[in-house]
Amino acid sequence: MPTTQPHGPDGMKQDIEMVIPSTPEQIHRVEAKAEKLARRFGFSQDDLDSLAIAITEIVANAIYHGNKKDPDKTVSIRFVCTTEALIVSVRDQGGGFKPNDLADPLAPENLLKGSGRGIFIVRTLVDDLQFKFHHDGTEVILTKNR
Ligand SMILES: Nc1ncnc2c1ncn2[C@@H]1O[C@H](COP(=O)(O)OP(=O)(O)OP(=O)(O)O)[C@@H](O)[C@H]1O
Ligand SMILES: [Mg+2]
Repeated sequence: MPTTQPHGPDGMKQDIEMVIPSTPEQIHRVEAKAEKLARRFGFSQDDLDSLAIAITEIVANAIYHGNKKDPDKTVSIRFVCTTEALIVSVRDQGGGFKPNDLADPLAPENLLKGSGRGIFIVRTLVDDLQFKFHHDGTEVILTKNR
């Protein structure tokens, strides 16, 4: 079987999608689902914690910055587990942004700011973070290796 093929213990579904409305109280649902799946897929408690924080930050960005809390817009979260990694895609219906223009949270003038470090923190918690800007929304793909 190719290693890119989703796999797992017999009968376990390896490709799971959830769609949520763009309201902040949905964030904890996604977090709970992510932890449950990562545990089922055999990740350590440390990895579970990292994944929970990373996914929470990216989903919060999708709800607040992408969809601007418009309840008529949705965020789709897809979990794919392969032999190598858990890959999580978070897709909103917003206009995107320019990752290269993000402020550096470690710059002296930003150190005391209370926001602007979500993506920076996520990069330290996952093995890969990609942004894809589609005509109808933004997709953020994070990968946590086994
Ligand atoms: N899905 C998204 N759609 C549109 N803009 C986004 C998205 N994700 C991030 N951004 C932009 O990137 C910026 C940086 O995001 P980041 O998560 O690092 O910080 P923040 O959300 O502003 O603050 P916090 O530290 O609370 O996460 C945001 O302020 C926003 O302008
Ligand atoms: Mg953020």
